[in-house]
Amino acid sequence: MTEIAEEIAQVRFTVESARARRQSIGFVPTMGALHAGHARLIERCREEARFTVVSLFVNPTQFGPNEDFTSYPRTWDEDLCVASAAGADLLFRPSVEAMYPSGRLSTYVEPGSLSTVLEGRSRPGHFRGVATVVLKLFQIVQPDFAYFGEKDYQQLLVIRRIVDDLNVPVAVRSVPTVREPDGLAMSSRNRYLSPAERQAALVLSRALGAARDVVLRGEHDANRIRQTLAETVKYEQLAELDYAEVADAGSLEPLVEIETGRRAVALLAVRIGGTRLIDNAILME
Ligand code: PAF
Repeated sequence: MTEIAEEIAQVRFTVESARARRQSIGFVPTMGALHAGHARLIERCREEARFTVVSLFVNPTQFGPNEDFTSYPRTWDEDLCVASAAGADLLFRPSVEAMYPSGRLSTYVEPGSLSTVLEGRSRPGHFRGVATVVLKLFQIVQPDFAYFGEKDYQQLLVIRRIVDDLNVPVAVRSVPTVREPDGLAMSSRNRYLSPAERQAALVLSRALGAARDVVLRGEHDANRIRQTLAETVKYEQLAELDYAEVADAGSLEPLVEIETGRRAVALLAVRIGGTRLIDNAILME
């Protein structure tokens, strides 16, 4: 049976009760519009932690002024079903007022250089909003473990860095991207896509697959791999490339060459009609 909490005090009380029963606490932060990728995070959490907390909060501070905060899908009834079926013990669904009582905060977490490239460059202020809300949620839930999807690769790195830099006592776990059978990475924003756009959105996984193939065939020049990514996207009429990067998988520093022994990641952001989608793939372990 999944308990529902809207108040911070209720979360604290329920989590403290679980701790008193010597249960470890796992946490899956989400913005709702749950899909199979979120269900996988919750299941992974349940494999490791005895008590699973899931938050559903569409966080206004991580959206830019022209972004989709108001239209972001809010599907509470379905979310409750997905989270319960996946085994969540507690669903925390705070209001904006509960998280930002006077409308805004005086204190924000400003993540460093990892947050100024790629998504950070295209979406100024995004990671400041993510970092701040995740730290607030960590303070409220005080989990032992927290689970994040690899689909949001840069977010995962930013959160790991905050946890390290600020000595937050939580073990951050990453969970591989869940994909539709045809390769599209699961995302709440896929709901925005028309049938034609849904088909066009396959260009992201196709481009990443093409990049992986050229690396397997021996291509190590990062510019040529970027070109493979960009050209694949260019041939899809409904797609518009935001960025195609080949970077060090730990620092996100753009690479000149892919080298054996240096983990490399390809990252893509593409607009399909009015929907901005991201995806990534590890090119070198
Ligand atoms: O990945 C998300 O859904 C959000 O960025 C997060 C981590 C829940 C913070 O609002």
